[in-house]
Amino acid sequence: MNFTSTKKLNNGVEIPVLGLGTYQIGDETATYNAVLNALDLGYRHIDTAAAYHNETGIGKAIKDSGIKRGDLFITTKLWNEDQRQGNQYAAFEESLERLGVDYVDMYLIHWPVREKIVESWKIMERIYKEGRSRVVGVCNFLIYHLEEIFAASDLLPAVNQVECHPWLTQAELADYCAGKNIQFEPWSPFGVGALLGDEKLTSLASKYDKTPAQLILKWGLQRGFINIPKSANRDRMLQNTQIFDFTVTDEDMAAIFGMNAGKRFGAHPDTFTF
Ligand code: A2P
Repeated sequence: MNFTSTKKLNNGVEIPVLGLGTYQIGDETATYNAVLNALDLGYRHIDTAAAYHNETGIGKAIKDSGIKRGDLFITTKLWNEDQRQGNQYAAFEESLERLGVDYVDMYLIHWPVREKIVESWKIMERIYKEGRSRVVGVCNFLIYHLEEIFAASDLLPAVNQVECHPWLTQAELADYCAGKNIQFEPWSPFGVGALLGDEKLTSLASKYDKTPAQLILKWGLQRGFINIPKSANRDRMLQNTQIFDFTVTDEDMAAIFGMNAGKRFGAHPDTFTF
């Protein structure tokens, strides 16, 4: 296995196990440069969202890289306000336009806008059936949000992208998703960088001659997750790919689980205000 290896999702589509996250990587130009660097390093999976306001820069980088569209895995997301306004389908088309592509690999509902979950999922179904997104899924969905979809649709979300890191290990939600064959995909794996100075992680990582970032990513990989770490820095992007030459012991996996503190850096899916 290496960083371009893929994993089969519940509809048979293969997703690269490592992608580049792009939230707050910078403006369109900074994002353009970061994505070009990532593609040059061999990354083929890029994660964005309409709300990141960087799809245009990503589209330009994809085009300028010269990499065949079919070799890329591009994810973007449906924003909350577009759900509230019933503007889901048009918002999707605007994302395609900004990205300069005629389909995406994965389209996700960004947050569970409670009164719109079923309505938005019906539009995800349409987009999927039309072949305009090869995979559809959700982000920040708790178990009862997922159950609302199950009650209304035969189409299972393929992915749930959720805040998850050693201080928010998400064991219950991740196990639930695994049981339903919904791929778990952590966001902010480094706790917005805050975990990278943690003494315990630093000491555990040094046993493997790895950095805390590499240890966290490997802990996620060994849990069966898809990793999408963000970095604007070429050296750190490369470092984040170098996680396939060591195995975290069961004891150390458990030690990292033991760091769980229920600590969120982002909003709670029940109380977000945006
Ligand atoms: P940078 O872009 O300068 O590399 P999270 O994904 O938890 O939100 O954390 C993202 C932060 O982690 C970014 O500020 C990013 O900064 C930093 N980062 C990404 N990869 C690494 C790494 N391998 N080592 C140290 N910091 C990293």
